[in-house]
Amino acid sequence: MGAAATKRPLLKRRGFWILAGLAALAVVVLAVVLPVYFVVVHKHGSTANGGSGGSGTPAGSGPPGSGNGNPASPTGATSGGNGTVVTMANGTQFTYINPFGGYWVYDPKAPFNNNARPNSWTPPLNTSWTWGKDQVFGVNLGGLFVLEPFIVPALYEKYVGAVDEWTLSTLMAADTASGGMSQLENHYDTFITEEDIAQIAGAGLNWIRLPIPFWCIETWSPEPFLARTSWTYIVRLLGWARKYGLRVNLDLHTIPGSQNGYNHSGRQGQVNWLYGVMGIANAERALGYIRTIAEFISQPEWQNVVPMFGIVNEPLVPQIGQDAVGRFYLQAYETIRSITGTGEGNGAYISIHDGFAGLTSWKGFLTGADRMVLDTHPYFAFNGQPNTAPIDTPAGDGGTWPAQACGWASMITQSQTDFGITVGGEFSTAYNDCGLFVDGITATGASGTPTFGGSCALYQDSSTWTPTLKSGLKAFTMASMDALENWFYWTWKIGVSSKTGIVSAPLWSYSLGLAGGWIPTDPRSAVGYCSSIGVANAPFPGTYSAWQTGGTGAGTIAPAAQASYSAYPPPSLSGIAIPADASLLYQYTSTGTPVTLPMPTFTGVKVTDNGWYNTADNGGAATPVAGCAYPDAWAESSLAMPVGSACGAAATGGVVAPTRTPATVPATTTAATATTTATVATTTAATTATATVRRR
Ligand SMILES: *[C@@H]1O[C@H](CO)[C@@H](O)[C@H](O)[C@H]1NC(C)=O
Ligand SMILES: *[C@@H]1O[C@H](CO)[C@@H](O)[C@H](O)[C@H]1NC(C)=O
Ligand SMILES: *[C@@H]1O[C@H](CO)[C@@H](O)[C@H](O)[C@H]1NC(C)=O
Ligand SMILES: *[C@@H]1O[C@H](CO)[C@@H](O)[C@H](O)[C@H]1NC(C)=O
Repeated sequence: MGAAATKRPLLKRRGFWILAGLAALAVVVLAVVLPVYFVVVHKHGSTANGGSGGSGTPAGSGPPGSGNGNPASPTGATSGGNGTVVTMANGTQFTYINPFGGYWVYDPKAPFNNNARPNSWTPPLNTSWTWGKDQVFGVNLGGLFVLEPFIVPALYEKYVGAVDEWTLSTLMAADTASGGMSQLENHYDTFITEEDIAQIAGAGLNWIRLPIPFWCIETWSPEPFLARTSWTYIVRLLGWARKYGLRVNLDLHTIPGSQNGYNHSGRQGQVNWLYGVMGIANAERALGYIRTIAEFISQPEWQNVVPMFGIVNEPLVPQIGQDAVGRFYLQAYETIRSITGTGEGNGAYISIHDGFAGLTSWKGFLTGADRMVLDTHPYFAFNGQPNTAPIDTPAGDGGTWPAQACGWASMITQSQTDFGITVGGEFSTAYNDCGLFVDGITATGASGTPTFGGSCALYQDSSTWTPTLKSGLKAFTMASMDALENWFYWTWKIGVSSKTGIVSAPLWSYSLGLAGGWIPTDPRSAVGYCSSIGVANAPFPGTYSAWQTGGTGAGTIAPAAQASYSAYPPPSLSGIAIPADASLLYQYTSTGTPVTLPMPTFTGVKVTDNGWYNTADNGGAATPVAGCAYPDAWAESSLAMPVGSACGAAATGGVVAPTRTPATVPATTTAATATTTATVATTTAATTATATVRRR
């Protein structure tokens, strides 16, 4: 197998001790310098943030005291609320419209300032989020860094034969006349702008779920994906989120070998993660990328901006099996928590997807684990049914659809008792699967075949929609929001088709729905919607066990739960008969160099952190065993295990799971005490959720 692309050396032991020495020296120096520094800089700080005051700025004006030379504002302000003008990096200006008391904060002298907030009911980034009290009103930025045909149709229309990012990248790279892969970078640069992020805050939203591909870290030959280029734009996006006070759920959307065989995993077709002959090897690589991302987001500069990390999007549990996926989740959990330590304030919440197995099957999973979130993606669009019940009724009430969406509420409430924090990481206005490329794209460039039982034409052109259709769609959307409680709409923006010249999958675009009137301009108006239409929705009482939010007991996994998932690699895998000697499984060895994701740079501000939070986490990364001929990691899921393979643990000196040094958490992080101490009220009614949860 091929060599890894760009790599940066990790500090080894020796470097660590030199650093430790320097740090000790720095403490001495700082003790002298700090008093002076604070006198000088604090003044600045209070000038910059003085008007923010925690309660919003007056409409149309920045806070008092602003005006100390910020090029991103025509007045030089470092903070501003509704009506302030913002200058983007390329000089174009827009007016920040936020009727909800939100304000942006950006001071070029303090680029990591976390004082911004998106609205008056969401705590600023510098203040902790309280699960059970604060509610997630979020939106995904699909199609930005992971390119799906129905979100960015024009790029796929240009390259007939492209069905996923693998084939798109191959065709695009060959098209040097059009600039080759620079077209992809241009997409990262322009599809979502700073103004979009400002509009997200202005729409009453408070979180972004940001899908990213593993190839923002590296690629291995022969993967055709654009390696590392997106990282610069991902960090730029995170910076905008900070500026507008939006929290980010960073979602690792693609996994080596593919975790679901869907086009949005990078390559459509096979599952080769925890499945088939390369299943363990691909999982070893995935754990390494999860580690790299955790190292980055756990740095103090990012903890408040990225309080949630979704480690694997939509693993296909029906094919892979819950046992293997659960074991991987535990490996990933331990990898992350050995970097961050446990307890509130130490790294992000870890979000796991239900894998289409239903929320109830995760009841009691890893009880005691520190700050986990269960994520589900309910869609009627993909239930395989004709869905012909009318949504455009004379009353404009959406017919039976809103009540059907409200049916999700009971499974969400139940899961908050059974598991803990539960979110709807994806949902949309699409009650059917109409829309250009919504069912994928064929090699001839045609849209996939919808299962909808009527004509799709209406749902591909929102300019023709009647007021009653719009209000029906709005009712369905608000019902979905209310039922999910903590939600992330899929997705903020759908690009225009080059063939039709319009957004041809309008049921999926939050921004289009805001403009067109089928998305509520104030998401709070959806709260209580289900009971208003007569569907009982008794929301979760809002009290979690202390361990679920990083308080007492967090990180002590119940022995029985631990025991059922701790053996790794999984004793059995789908897709292959594990050889009697499991050490014959294809694996990588841990002698590679972990890849570090770089920090952004700023003019005139020195950034000392280097992208790797925990220097004690210095084990190697997965790399092919020299001389081993591995099967294709993306395309040989049905291959039988060769007898006597020399590429398994037997050949690598017994290294099976990736090396994980129990890490000492850097001293800068102090474990805070939990804000939530109440225990879960035991709910007795164990209603079986029959909601439609389907793949996308
Ligand atoms: C927000 O600012 C805009 C533009 O200045 C203004 O038209 C609007 O009335 C303001 N809204 C609120 C709620 O202050
Ligand atoms: C957090 O930000 C608010 C403004 O949103 C500011 O008033 C407050 O002082 C900040 N708190 C800390 C601890 O920096
Ligand atoms: C600046 O960027 C925005 C957003 O991408 C774009 O709409 C605008 O045309 C650009 N302006 C210039 C002068 O390039
Ligand atoms: C391709 O993507 C669309 C939209 O996400 C999805 O509905 C479809 O099932 C996918 N097809 C495949 C084969 O991955």
